[in-house]
Amino acid sequence: MGSERYVATLTPGDLFRDWLVSLYDGRLRDPACRVKVSLIRPASHTVCRYTSEEGDLDVVVKFFAEPTGRNREYDPARAMKREYRMLKMAQKAQVPVAGPVAVNRTFNCALVTTYVPGTPLGTHIKNRSSLSSRLSAVAGVMRRLHARSSSSYEKTREFSTFHDVLDQVGLPDDDRDRFNRLLGEWWRSGDLDRRRGCMIHRDATPANYLFTEDGVTAIDFESAWTRAHPVHDLGILCAEMKNLFRKRYGDPGAAEPYVGHFLREYAGSTDEFEAITTAFPFFMAEGYLRTARLKVDDGDRRWLIREAERCLKRR
Ligand SMILES: Nc1ncnc2c1ncn2[C@@H]1O[C@H](COP(=O)(O)OP(=O)(O)O)[C@@H](O)[C@H]1O
Ligand SMILES: [Mg+2]
Repeated sequence: MGSERYVATLTPGDLFRDWLVSLYDGRLRDPACRVKVSLIRPASHTVCRYTSEEGDLDVVVKFFAEPTGRNREYDPARAMKREYRMLKMAQKAQVPVAGPVAVNRTFNCALVTTYVPGTPLGTHIKNRSSLSSRLSAVAGVMRRLHARSSSSYEKTREFSTFHDVLDQVGLPDDDRDRFNRLLGEWWRSGDLDRRRGCMIHRDATPANYLFTEDGVTAIDFESAWTRAHPVHDLGILCAEMKNLFRKRYGDPGAAEPYVGHFLREYAGSTDEFEAITTAFPFFMAEGYLRTARLKVDDGDRRWLIREAERCLKRR
């Protein structure tokens, strides 16, 4: 689950190294230090860790102008500033996130965050190591993020994004028509209506929650939204978790008790739990389809699409 590979050591005089060191002006024991660079994979852009010999400089840099994934149609400078702004916003709301340090468009649109020495939730899902308590921690972090409420809510954007995901899955016409009809029913049901929205992570995959000795830290706020539906993040995370259980143990149903536990921990009360479960299948379906549009084998793809449809039919 992710790897780091040494690629270079930078010495004083290297422009990028000097810029990084300047961000820690007066705080490094040796300002003339050499800085080790390691490449982190997988990632949708070039992502590298930069570490000084003494370890007092330890940051991760995401280069938005160097995409590695299939999404190459975006404005890198805008995306860089956006993630920085979202991280700041979450940090202000006391959400534990990778600390935003700086951005610089002249270095291939670099976003610098502090290195989080943690293991992703995905690894703990696969090992089922203390999974219930870890899910409680993630639920707490999500609650805190969602508590940052917005005065308005954009239901239309939630639906148009769902349609975008469907476009990317590229279903045959008949299947797409069925999904369109189901989405129409959801729209009219009013089950996704609310007065106010909130901040969400929107890419709440198990890779983006890192467990350290101090608890859980969220990373990767590139896609974060305000004015959104809070259940969005819950659906994405749980769809990913069920798919991981299916792949690991051949039994997605084995994830159910964990999904239930996670939702109850997030909800905190029976009323809130009920409210969550009304909108939950919609976002679970979106979670499955997000995965189906990636490079997955045909069997996986069929299962993900079938599950998505089952969720939308609330069966
Ligand atoms: N601040 C950080 N601390 C530790 N690891 C990080 C940090 N930021 C990113 N990473 C690692 O780099 C990977 C890719 O970064 P991320 O911001 O999630 O970009 P994306 O998922 O869009 O490619 C993460 O899954 C994680 O392994
Ligand atoms: Mg990520």
